[in-house]
Amino acid sequence: MRTAVCHALYMELAERVALVTGGAHRVGRAIALELAAAGASVAIAYHRSEDQAAETVTELRNCGVDAGGFKADLAVPAEAAGLAEAVAGRLGPIDALVNSASWFARDEFPSEDTETWYRTLDVVLHGPFHLTNAVAPSMLERGGGAIVNIVDLSAWQPWPGRAAHSVAKAALLALTRQVAVELAPTVRCNAVALGPTIAPAKFGPDQVERLRQRTLLGRWNGGTEAGRAVRYLLEAGAVTGECLTVDGGEQYGHVRDRFTDTAG
Ligand SMILES: NC(=O)c1ccc[n+]([C@@H]2O[C@H](COP(=O)([O-])OP(=O)(O)OC[C@H]3O[C@@H](n4cnc5c(N)ncnc54)[C@H](OP(=O)(O)O)[C@@H]3O)[C@@H](O)[C@H]2O)c1
Repeated sequence: MRTAVCHALYMELAERVALVTGGAHRVGRAIALELAAAGASVAIAYHRSEDQAAETVTELRNCGVDAGGFKADLAVPAEAAGLAEAVAGRLGPIDALVNSASWFARDEFPSEDTETWYRTLDVVLHGPFHLTNAVAPSMLERGGGAIVNIVDLSAWQPWPGRAAHSVAKAALLALTRQVAVELAPTVRCNAVALGPTIAPAKFGPDQVERLRQRTLLGRWNGGTEAGRAVRYLLEAGAVTGECLTVDGGEQYGHVRDRFTDTAG
């Protein structure tokens, strides 16, 4: 097991140990592959996607790095803590944590059914809280580490029909800044706010096209761009408490036509 001490500031990812939650497929997988390309040993956490996790672990090993898949329900606090322990036991102490797992569900408000509210908060906010709580002591003790949380524009724009998701992502962004303060100067903590990246299978073609058009760059960005942003923030020695928006300009898309209906 590797016991080298890492440094709080610039972090060379080669031979570090990274944990990516939600890493079996889609955006999390792309992030994991980018970190493997940088030479990190990569643990991916999955909940239900066991087969895809096994495929991704094979892909990660084909990059020439050590890798492992770890099952955990991050809505359960003890499983989040157990995950950190299992990864450290198998790959070594965690230097880099990426909280990408999420739960994206429509919820009515007001509603008597609060199940989506609690599940979303548990996966999106409490999972990262418990994992950060579990990995931080070892990072502090060894003198360095970096954390990146994945959010989206709902962290500062309330999305209609997505109360739990928007509140959870806003809170995750707040947690990012709080952790940056609590763990400074030893551990850095940042966020990446993604725009349209990989369309969910349940989105119809019209919805995919509408979201594409809403971006300034006119595209879904793909997971590699998310991975590059995460890698930058894990390595960036002078950045903490920051949120890097990787949305193809979605947050400014609505201003494009602002003056087209006025004379002059
Ligand atoms: N896709 C996009 O265009 C987009 C846009 C903006 C932001 N984002 C953000 O990017 C991240 C990844 O997005 P995505 O679209 O790839 O996500 P996704 O397809 O919705 O997948 C969600 C991931 O979270 C994991 N997860 C859900 N509940 C869990 C639980 N209880 N315990 C452990 N893991 C759990 C799932 O693992 P299993 O499959 O193993 O159950 C899955 O890997 C999310 O934070 C999302 O908000 C994505």
